[in-house]
Amino acid sequence: MTGRSEIFRQHNFIDNKWCQAAGGKHINTYCPSTGKILALLPASDHRDIDQAVKAAREAFDNGEWSTYNPVQRGRLLARLGKAIENEINQLAKIEAEDTGKPLKQAQADMIATARYFEFYGGAADKFGGETLPYLNNYQVQLLREPLGVTGHIIPWNYPAQMFGRTLAPALAMGNCVVFKPAEDACLTPIALTKLSQEAGFPAGSINLVTGLGEEAGAALASHPDINFLSFTGSPEIGSFVQSQASKNHVSCTLELGGKSPQIIFSDANLDMALPIIINAIIQNAGQTCSAGSRVLIQEEIFDKVVGELQNKFSNLIAGPHDQNFDLGALITSKQKARVTNYLKNIDESLVLARGKVSPLASSDGYYFPPTLIGPINADHILAREEVFGPVLVCLKFSDETEAIKIANGTRYGLISGIWTRDGSRQTRVARKLNCGQVFINCYGAGGGVELPFGGTKMSGHGREKGMEALKEFSQVKTVVQYYGD
Ligand code: NAI
Ligand code: MG
Repeated sequence: MTGRSEIFRQHNFIDNKWCQAAGGKHINTYCPSTGKILALLPASDHRDIDQAVKAAREAFDNGEWSTYNPVQRGRLLARLGKAIENEINQLAKIEAEDTGKPLKQAQADMIATARYFEFYGGAADKFGGETLPYLNNYQVQLLREPLGVTGHIIPWNYPAQMFGRTLAPALAMGNCVVFKPAEDACLTPIALTKLSQEAGFPAGSINLVTGLGEEAGAALASHPDINFLSFTGSPEIGSFVQSQASKNHVSCTLELGGKSPQIIFSDANLDMALPIIINAIIQNAGQTCSAGSRVLIQEEIFDKVVGELQNKFSNLIAGPHDQNFDLGALITSKQKARVTNYLKNIDESLVLARGKVSPLASSDGYYFPPTLIGPINADHILAREEVFGPVLVCLKFSDETEAIKIANGTRYGLISGIWTRDGSRQTRVARKLNCGQVFINCYGAGGGVELPFGGTKMSGHGREKGMEALKEFSQVKTVVQYYGD
């Protein structure tokens, strides 16, 4: 892979060429650990998006990509997966510096990114259509066809993983992609695009356009010649993106975050549960759509669980990305202000524990100490809204019915964790939870490429990951043939 300084001079990638934004404007990107400028990125607008969509359309209709069979597409995806694996350390350094996450977490993210390309490389030639029973002397085939040009708007919390999660299944099905990374974290998507070029993806199959959400993002969402949109981000922008897509009758998947509950029953194995529960909120400094941000504790064990969480929380330390503290800085000063604002008016008696910010951390970085809050009721703002920071709230419940009511009582429905040794209860509760994924005696915030993932209610719709993603990125054509008597 090319050196970092060269990557940082890179620009948009359209039709296999690196180019500047049409308007020649730039945006700055910062290192969250220090607040220093890391790179200048093209501030693209509708002209750049239009050029990228045209390149993708040409590649889809007439380009080399359109001649590839599923085996060839799969091999290319797998080759990119291998190339990512070979560059894990270099990519992880870029990701950690650009997002503030600890280096060891960035390394794990790169392994997951490579895995997306391995998984969908293997799946590309294993997902096909079917035939249907119909009238005598008729044959009905359901062909699985690509959609065409797919648009992808990516968030800043897991830029590399999101590149894999959303692009790999789209490419596996034969689509051509135009993607816009978040203005706050573009550097690994740029580096990964460079690797895809080296791996040999044909011109126009992968197009990258950087820029602000309201300019480049909005232009992609409303472009009349895209066939599908994949969006991950805030519910507000998700609504906007869907409204734009609807004007062109383009369907979309929306992944809009959550307020995911961890439900601890009194018979739970706490030694197993608590380290996982803590990790599920401090991973990525709480900036994870599926962060376990509410812990629901049965009343008999409430004080005991809170006591153990307090001990663990007060020892957590936020610090610079290159020194592998428990968590890093938040992504931007704006995100830090958002999290700070959520806790501004909190009654100090509800603050059960606060972790620390390391003295090694720059005062210009966007650090926020991990904070444990409770007990609060289900109608408290911190029990309802997604803070997207390292803030865990504790709620009390008396029995299974109340636990389910509280768990289902927010506007979100992304994932849930259940901690109990009672097998019947595990199944009963799992079936009653209104969300897209349930973990029983385990928790995988974002984990598992194989596992279909997505939300209910305000968490969005559509499913990513696993073989389900291949359905989203394809469509059925029904071919009815009368073959004679
Ligand atoms: P956002 O929703 O504004 O950004 C996500 C993506 O959408 C970025 O690529 C951005 O450039 C793009 N975007 C922004 N405005 C757009 C527009 N008008 N048209 C098209 N694309 C647009 O999220 P933001 O403001 O960075 O974060 C605010 C909150 O959103 C966070 O605190 C968190 O609660 C939530 N969020 C959830 C994520 C998740 O993984 N579900 C990821 C990022 C944010
Ligand atoms: Mg925004």
